[in-house]
Amino acid sequence: MGIFSVLALPLLLLGISGIIYIYQSVRWLLSKSAVQNKVVVITDAISGLGKECSRVFHAGGARLVLCGRNWEKLEALYDALISVTDPSTTYAPKLILLDITDISCIGDVAKEILNCYGCVDVLINNASMKVKGAVQSISLELDKKIMDANYFGPITLTKAILPNMISRRTGQIVLINSIQGKIGIPFRAAYAASKHAAVGFFDCLRAEMEEFDISVSTVNPTFICSYHRQAAPGNWEASIWK
Ligand SMILES: NC(=O)c1ccc[n+]([C@@H]2O[C@H](COP(=O)([O-])OP(=O)(O)OC[C@H]3O[C@@H](n4cnc5c(N)ncnc54)[C@H](OP(=O)(O)O)[C@@H]3O)[C@@H](O)[C@H]2O)c1
Repeated sequence: MGIFSVLALPLLLLGISGIIYIYQSVRWLLSKSAVQNKVVVITDAISGLGKECSRVFHAGGARLVLCGRNWEKLEALYDALISVTDPSTTYAPKLILLDITDISCIGDVAKEILNCYGCVDVLINNASMKVKGAVQSISLELDKKIMDANYFGPITLTKAILPNMISRRTGQIVLINSIQGKIGIPFRAAYAASKHAAVGFFDCLRAEMEEFDISVSTVNPTFICSYHRQAAPGNWEASIWK
């Protein structure tokens, strides 16, 4: 009886400190962003969806590499991101020019991307070209250009980044695709065909990458009404942060 009363207080204190420790650890884990310090590459970061992804990842503390084919728009996005976040908890994004249809340059762009931080944790293949028209009114040249933008471009970039992920046995590849990669509707043949091709490629890649612990996701949205579409004239970058 005597020994229990001597040990009761230390045991109680030990139990309470254990509970406090677990509580604080869970709080710390919940507050930690999943993308903090991760190197995240977004192609066509200046599109409606690309800008929103950039904002979310930047605020989460990711080390962003933002790609786009228009330098002024990339700089405007950079300024908008920097102006709304705390510089002590975020990284200044790196900017890289990338025209996704320029297949012969993508290898060099991939080297530039890898040179930024030495690795890529998350690659978001967002860049894409849209076209609408009857099959007989779309030239074969345009069909091929759409295929370059929506299929050959993303797969070329992915293939160039993949060896880095495989060697590190970690990574996440995301394809922003479209519901039109799953179904066909009138007047979208070129776009839908390229999006179907991309889904096929990335579905196979997912199966191949499983053994390297690299995850491959395809996102197939329907219509997205982004702030980009509703931007006030002359104030497009500010309008996305509301
Ligand atoms: N919005 C939707 O409803 C919707 C639905 C389903 C899927 N998606 C997918 O979501 C992704 C983003 O689309 P979004 O609607 O956000 O785009 P968006 O706001 O309509 O902007 C189109 C973008 O495409 C860029 N672009 C065109 N040709 C390019 C090229 N050769 N290289 C690099 N960039 C090029 C344009 O750049 P410039 O400004 O330089 O011309 C512009 O930033 C795409 O993969 C799209 O297929 C969108």
